[in-house]
Amino acid sequence: NAGALWGGRFSSGPSPELVALSRSTHFDWALALYDLAGSHAHAKALAAAGYLTADEEARMHAGLDALATAVQDGTLVASPTDEDVHGALETALIAEVGPELGGKLRAGRSRNDQIATLVRLYLLDHARLIAHALLQVIDAIVAQAEAHSAAIMPGRTHLQHAQPILLAHHLQAHAWPLVRDLERLRDWTARASVSPYGGGALAGATLGLDPQLVADELGLARPAENSLDGTAARDVVAEFAFITAMIGVDVSRFAEDIIIWNTREFGFVTLDDGYSTGSSIMPQKKNPDIAELARGKAGRLIGNLSGLLATLKGLPLAYNRDLQEDKEPVFDSVDTLEVVLPAFAGMVATLRFHTERMAELAPQGFSLATDVADWLVKRGVPFRDAHEISGALVQACERRGIELHEASDHLLAEVSSELTPQVREVLSIEGSVASRDGAGGTAPVRVAEQRAEIVARAQAA
Ligand code: ARG
Repeated sequence: NAGALWGGRFSSGPSPELVALSRSTHFDWALALYDLAGSHAHAKALAAAGYLTADEEARMHAGLDALATAVQDGTLVASPTDEDVHGALETALIAEVGPELGGKLRAGRSRNDQIATLVRLYLLDHARLIAHALLQVIDAIVAQAEAHSAAIMPGRTHLQHAQPILLAHHLQAHAWPLVRDLERLRDWTARASVSPYGGGALAGATLGLDPQLVADELGLARPAENSLDGTAARDVVAEFAFITAMIGVDVSRFAEDIIIWNTREFGFVTLDDGYSTGSSIMPQKKNPDIAELARGKAGRLIGNLSGLLATLKGLPLAYNRDLQEDKEPVFDSVDTLEVVLPAFAGMVATLRFHTERMAELAPQGFSLATDVADWLVKRGVPFRDAHEISGALVQACERRGIELHEASDHLLAEVSSELTPQVREVLSIEGSVASRDGAGGTAPVRVAEQRAEIVARAQAA
């Protein structure tokens, strides 16, 4: 029953209300296989320290293996009276190998050091899956940038036309945050690879079990340095939640661009049928639901992080039951990204770009005005005056309803004697883009170099 782990001191079993509140098997069952892996490692440590004979150890491993098979094929599930995954698996182990042997496994460990270890194992596995899915998104962006390496679009600040840029430059600007997210996952992995197992409830172990042996068995780098910290700290979980929230936010910003580009007014992209949705009432509709879900789910990823931080704030050391609330938020963040990222990668990979439309709009809105000012500077005009002259040309063209390159020689001269007809050499979007060849700039040569760097950094992460 639910009191199975601590019956001795109690004269009654738990009330039904307590059982209902306390139960965590509906979510922590996701840790069942990690719990069994921990038990295998713990059995080895017990045997190494002389608490299990070779025969007992062998029967213990066989029993745990049988449980793992039953968990995997779904024949072993938690019963309604089990409080958590640890208790449920102990009950199942005792049924499998008998109370004599099954009752020995709990020596030298606590659910507090177990759960702190298992949540790391779970997150480490999913960090790998998320990194893989993130890489697919980065690959899709890089492939699109490669396929449209010469296309020019209007670059914007404040959502207003600012300066022409390469479409590839814009796409790659969405790849960089994801590359850094990959690096964040890698850095987090090194910090997370610590085993609190053996710390006991809080104060450390008395039985002389080897914590490094357990860490090695679980693929973790080393035991926790402090048993209180090992069982009570959840910064490793919060940091993971932050990284998933950051990924959500980074993907959401790209999603927003795609949603805007997909409007009739922009007309920059068409979504593939397989990656867009229709309307139940308006037959003509083709909606960017993947991008909208990616944008929307960023909100829940942020919520998972802030909820977890709120749970942790002000918790005294060491273990408190509040800490059971660490799992659902990050499990949800994992589930969320594991469906968002593959759909997003597919949507990006199949986007069709309307580069002629982008090129047509790129010079509009006087987006070459900075190029005019820079051209004047190269001819010795102070930037302050160059800015004034270029601004006056914009005003003159705006009044006449023409674009900069349509200004006549006469109009140029009227605005300023510095504006000779040669200024037209910078009044093309190709010329403008090619001239921005400073480090990290939008010139095709820089953008190609940058793309190679994205691929290298993503592979190294
Ligand atoms: N289920 C708990 C958790 O998820 C671990 C069990 C520790 N319980 C306890 N009463 N010390 O954090």
